Amino acid sequence: MLLIRTMRRSDLSWAAGLETRVFSRPWSEEELEKDLENERKLMLVALQDCRPVGYAQSVRAADEADISRICVQEEFRGQGIATKLLTELLKLSGEAGAAKFFLEVRESNRAARNLYERMGFTVTGVRRKYYDEPEEDAVLMAYLFRKQLPGNRNA
Ligand SMILES: CC(C)(COP(=O)(O)OP(=O)(O)OC[C@H]1O[C@@H](n2cnc3c(N)ncnc32)[C@H](O)[C@@H]1OP(=O)(O)O)[C@@H](O)C(=O)NCCC(=O)NCCS
Repeated sequence: MLLIRTMRRSDLSWAAGLETRVFSRPWSEEELEKDLENERKLMLVALQDCRPVGYAQSVRAADEADISRICVQEEFRGQGIATKLLTELLKLSGEAGAAKFFLEVRESNRAARNLYERMGFTVTGVRRKYYDEPEEDAVLMAYLFRKQLPGNRNA
């Protein structure tokens, strides 16, 4: 069974290990621990049969939030885990006041770009040579929570 909850200290060494395997600039366990204490940052973990298999982070400022990380352990990919994590991240960040979401993603990261597009994010621009190790452009994407129109409550 898949469960999503906020990240705890006990998840940190697992998350830092996954960071090291997946990202060229991994976040350390100490950095992740600081993030846990930052009230602007929301960190969620997906647990499969009580075992952590994926995590995601957003950073909120007023009504805007950045999706700063989403990662699923290699052997659990392609099972809808990132979709569930991102859905919950958007929901909880929305409840905390975020109405606009932004992110950047490596141009070549087809899996992540497909995930974000499927969730309703649209491309808003490109930042040339934004990444290093290896150097690559960033695709900028945004997602706006639909606002209800006045007088259209039942629509
Ligand atoms: C991107 C990532 C989080 C997707 O996780 P996941 O749990 O496998 O994703 P899901 O199973 O929820 O898939 C959702 C959609 O993403 C897209 N997708 C996922 N994996 C894909 C792949 N290998 N190739 C192409 N599209 C892919 C598909 O559109 C998929 O929808 P579909 O199954 O209906 O086709 C995962 O591949 C990952 O951890 N990558 C490394 C970390 C990373 O690059 N994170 C993003 C930048 S921080």
